[in-house]
This record gives sequence, structure tokens and C-alpha cells, in this order.
Amino acid sequence: MARRKTQREAVVKFSTPTPFSRIPFRLAGNGARAILRALSSMPASTTVPVSGNAGRFRPTNTVPEDIARRIAAAHGTPAYVYSQQALEDRAAEALAFPNAHGLTVRFAMKALPNATVLRLFERKGLHFDASSGHEVRRAMFAGIAPQKISLSTQELPADLTPLLRAGVLVNACSLAQLDAIGTALPGWNIGVRINPGRGSGGTGKTNVGGPDASFGIWHEHIAEILETARRHRLNIVRVHTHIGSGSDPAVWQEVSTLNLALMDRFPDARTLNLGGGFKVARVPGEKDADLQAAGAPVKAAFEDFAARTGRRLHLEIEPGTFLTANCGVLLARVQDITDTGEAGRRFLKLDTGMTELLRPGLYGAQHPAEIVPADAGRAPGSAVHDYILAGHCCESGDLISCAPGEPERLAPVRLPAVRMGDLCLIGGAGAYCSAMSAKNYNSFPEAPEILLDPGNTPRLIRRRQTLEQMIQNEIPLA
Ligand SMILES: Cc1ncc(COP(=O)(O)O)c(C=O)c1O
Repeated sequence: MARRKTQREAVVKFSTPTPFSRIPFRLAGNGARAILRALSSMPASTTVPVSGNAGRFRPTNTVPEDIARRIAAAHGTPAYVYSQQALEDRAAEALAFPNAHGLTVRFAMKALPNATVLRLFERKGLHFDASSGHEVRRAMFAGIAPQKISLSTQELPADLTPLLRAGVLVNACSLAQLDAIGTALPGWNIGVRINPGRGSGGTGKTNVGGPDASFGIWHEHIAEILETARRHRLNIVRVHTHIGSGSDPAVWQEVSTLNLALMDRFPDARTLNLGGGFKVARVPGEKDADLQAAGAPVKAAFEDFAARTGRRLHLEIEPGTFLTANCGVLLARVQDITDTGEAGRRFLKLDTGMTELLRPGLYGAQHPAEIVPADAGRAPGSAVHDYILAGHCCESGDLISCAPGEPERLAPVRLPAVRMGDLCLIGGAGAYCSAMSAKNYNSFPEAPEILLDPGNTPRLIRRRQTLEQMIQNEIPLA
């Protein structure tokens, strides 16, 4: 995790791409040093290493070993641990997105909706993107002003009218939604979400644009949009698109241009929202989005548009992953070690899995893993093994070590010899982890969330769920 320079250990900078080999070894303590030593003498193999310096990879966050042990002792495992400093640094980076005539950065709160995180981002100047009426209410409950929340949803909430009257903004995501909003609130100022005909995502499952995606109004239906808006006297003041998570920067760029061209059809629109989707490198070989590079041509295109039309459009972006993914780790414990013989596999069974980290099983997403010896005095030996990190659910797909984009193919990680009871830090766990999991499967309770403040003090921001809370809505019959 990022720490102040006054701390004894070296500072990990989240905002500058740093080859892993240049990270001070104090970063993760003795464990990291041993891992790096082991890696440097590692034979070539198909094993996915836990660290390295391939590609433009920003080191994923980690927590110092002593703090990891302290958190595990105080709060148990599994637990999510977020870095306040890293979240704030990412917010500052997003707010510096190049723009011609003004910028609003909306945090796509679906990525990490904890109230403390929402309030932290609000203090830094972010607004919010909500994907359901429930998310809107959750943000308002956290104290976010309705005027700072924009709703783009697959399902309009039953309480849409009071939410909009309170000041929440809405982007109609289908023609039926547009009609429903117009019927409820004729003459309202609204946005429309357009499917520009192109999509892109880190995987097919995170691609939400193009002909196979149900998100937004198909770009060839603009005449129908205008007719529906006219019928209800709706003013289309915003145009919105989001083409996918982890989208290809070139496609993101191309779609931005397409969207700007669409603005000619919406003469009253003052804002263009280009969505989120900026890539984050969680493991070596993946690339982090460069927002300055992505934004520079967009800024120029907005300037050209203004020169051509006299309309100075306001820009919105709404990242989720970019703002949070590498700002959190999942702290777990190795609770069993098993194998399937000499020619088989060696499994580290963790006390976490799809109940806290669904992304590997869902998308074949990659998360780095690092072992922290349970005993502070024990230095990991030089021997390394290939391990499969397995989850704790009775589900063969509950695996953390899978091949990129292939949830069903095992890909071992090479680690120094691990003992039962050791801790495991799984990186890149800030986005779509606590927010998106197979919660309560096998009746495992929801894990706690902890924020490391800038002085590296762990602050509990969500308690571990109790059994009573898990079953509180059941109504036993006789
Ligand atoms: C409408 C909308 N905006 C923004 C986002 C955030 O995407 P990302 O986390 O990839 O930045 C999403 C993610 O699904 C989305 O659906």
C-alpha cells in the first residue's frame, strides 16, 4: 500500500509506472525479497509468475507484512484492505483527464460502493454513476447529494420519479425507458445512452457495446429517440456511452470520435459522457491506461467540434476499475495444502474464494498473489513450488489460479514453499470484488473491509457479517 515518506519502509508510488525490479525491496518485506530471489533463478516454464516487469505494469498494491499480520489478528481473514492514499492518488489522476471545456469525473460506484469510499471520493471532487435505483439510494444514504448522482440502468427503479425530482440525473438506456421517463416527467432534462455499434472489453463478458450488447439505444435508432423525446417534450441535454470494462484504448478512442459525431443529431446536448473502461494492469504483462494519452485527442476533438459548431461541450468520464482496482488487496489465510500426486497438482486452499473474489471464475481474471509467512521470524526458504490457489467453496470453478481469460484452465503460480496458516495477499482486489461476489455461498459470511489511512492505521469500514445478519430475512414456516 502507498505510505507516507515518514514511514520506515520505502514508498510505493501508485501513480507512476515502475518496473517491478526497481521497487524497493522493503515494499513487501522479507517475503517479497525471497520471492524475487526465487524468481530470478526460476527456469522458463508456463507457470504464471507472481511478479515481474513485463509490459507497462504498475506494481499492484500490497500491504507491509507486519500490518497484514496485525489486521489478520485483529479482524480475522478473509478481509479486504484498501489504501486511502492510493484511492486519493487515483482520483487526482482521473481529475487531470485532458478536457477542453470542463470535466466531471463520475465514480462508477458499482466497482466499490462502500460509504467510506464514496465519501472519500466526494471529498476529492468526484461525482457518481449508479447502475440501479438501489445504488442511487445507497449513495444518498452515504450522504451524496442527489445532484451528483447519474443513473444509467438496465432496469428503471419503481421510485424513479421521486429520485429525479430530488435532483438525480438519468440517462435513458432504451427507447422504452425514454418513453417511461417522458410519461412520468414530460418536459424533463434527460440524457440518452447510445450503443455506438462498437464495443470492447477485457473479455467478451465485459464488452457492453456492439450488436451483441443490450446496453443503450442502438445508434441507428436516433430518429426514434428524437420522436419519443418530441412527443414528451423531453430535452436531451446529455449523450452517454460506455463500451466495456478493460476496453482496448484504440477502440475507446474510435468510439469517442463516433460519439462526438452523434452530437450533431442532439442540438440541445451540452454534455458528452464517454463512460469508463480504462484498463488497469493487475499483473505483469497487462497494461495500465494512460489517461493523458487517451484524453489528449478527445480534448482536441472537442475543440474542433466547438470551432465547427460553436458548442463548447462538457466532458464526463465514469471510471470504476481505474479508480479502485489496484487500491485494494484481499487478505486471506492458507488453511490447507493438498496434492494430487507426483504428476498432479499442489493446492493451496485459502479461506477465501468466489465468496470474495469472483472475477477469476467469471472471466479468467488475473490477480497477483503474495505469501506472508505466519511467523514474523520465518524467512521463506529458497525452494519454490508451483501451486494452484483454490477457493473454499464446494465448487470446482472456485479457483484463483486460472489462465488469462480461461476460467476453466488451471495456471499455477510459483511461490516459495508455503506452510499452512501463512497469509496470502491477493492484489488488484479493489474493484468488482467486495461489490461482486458469490456472497454467502456455502453460508460463508460477508468479509470485512478495512481502510489503511495515510498513516497506515487500519480502520474498519465494514464489519464481518454475522450468521444472524445472513439469515435475518428468512421467515421460518412452522
Ligand atoms: C455505464 C457504466 N459506466 C462505467 C462503468 C465502469 O467501468 P470500468 O470499471 O471498466 O471503468 C461501467 C461498468 O460496467 C458501466 O456499466
